[in-house]
Amino acid sequence: MLVQIFQESAKMGSAVRVAELNAGPKIPLVGLGTSSINQNPEEIKTAVATALEVGYRHFDTATLYSSECALGDALKEACLKGLVAREEVFVTTKLWCEDLDDPVSALRTSLENLQLEYVDLYLIHWPLRVRKGFSFPIFKEEDFLPLDLESTWQGMEQCVHLGLTKAIGVSNFSCKKIGDLLSHAKISPAVNQVEMHPLWQQKKLRDYCSKVNIHVSAWSPLGGPPNAHGSNDVMDNPDIKEIAEKHGKTTAQVILRWGLEQGVSVLPKSYNKGRITQNFQVFDWSLTAEDHSKISRLEQKKTITGHEAVNSTTSPYKSVEELWDGEI
Ligand code: A2P
Repeated sequence: MLVQIFQESAKMGSAVRVAELNAGPKIPLVGLGTSSINQNPEEIKTAVATALEVGYRHFDTATLYSSECALGDALKEACLKGLVAREEVFVTTKLWCEDLDDPVSALRTSLENLQLEYVDLYLIHWPLRVRKGFSFPIFKEEDFLPLDLESTWQGMEQCVHLGLTKAIGVSNFSCKKIGDLLSHAKISPAVNQVEMHPLWQQKKLRDYCSKVNIHVSAWSPLGGPPNAHGSNDVMDNPDIKEIAEKHGKTTAQVILRWGLEQGVSVLPKSYNKGRITQNFQVFDWSLTAEDHSKISRLEQKKTITGHEAVNSTTSPYKSVEELWDGEI
């Protein structure tokens, strides 16, 4: 039913389903999330090379993830081998909270890491500003600096004017924070990248973003890595498992297909060839209205609340509710 939202990009090859961003570029709807928290550079390079072979043309990284260099190496190798051209690949990276006063310099560093002349999308990673050298995820009293998103956004806009990125956007922004940004932005954010999966569906935020023509991308669309007990409430959900069995698909495929049918792009992470492959096999089948109805009734619970950033008297947010402007 919602298959009309998929466009095919002639430039990117007919297998790549894309959505058009307000800034012009087309964003492929399935991207590979990269993060090196438990991975070494070689594993990241292999995952990216595998994904390119499978047909992925969208890669998501961030200064925080320490995966920019490995992603850049893998893309360069693929380009040199003639497997893909730079303009066929969509690369997103993110401005880390330590760099909010100078997005241009931060993006230049990311571009060096990535060995690229431009990225396709540059996002403010979090609406937080901290001093350089703080040790994430431990926020101390002295770490927070006053937030000035208006001046940070001007720096982001400068990145577009300098040709360092095709589009700019935000991540982990509430409706309220986007509204505030729109009140002074000369270039509207193209994307808001947020946690989204069947147990954190973001209906209000998606409706708002659609109204103001901002595309939503889902990070941790599978609910993130397993917890300390080896389980993941999203992947282990019995209703989703039942839907998967009925369609002869895996739970992950049902979850990703659900995201696509909500009109968002999804950024699953995997370092396993079989799972990278299956996560891309989500285009030639669809969920039923009954499946959607069942998923829409699932109890909601956000996985990443950002609680670490609200326990300090110097934080601009005194509670998780303030961080998300009550949208939690
Ligand atoms: P792995 O790298 O071993 O595949 P998210 O993208 O929501 O953050 O989830 C990432 C986690 O989900 C990783 O632990 C990843 O592990 C796992 N994962 C990715 N794809 C699948 C899949 N198709 N089936 C099961 N687990 C998956």
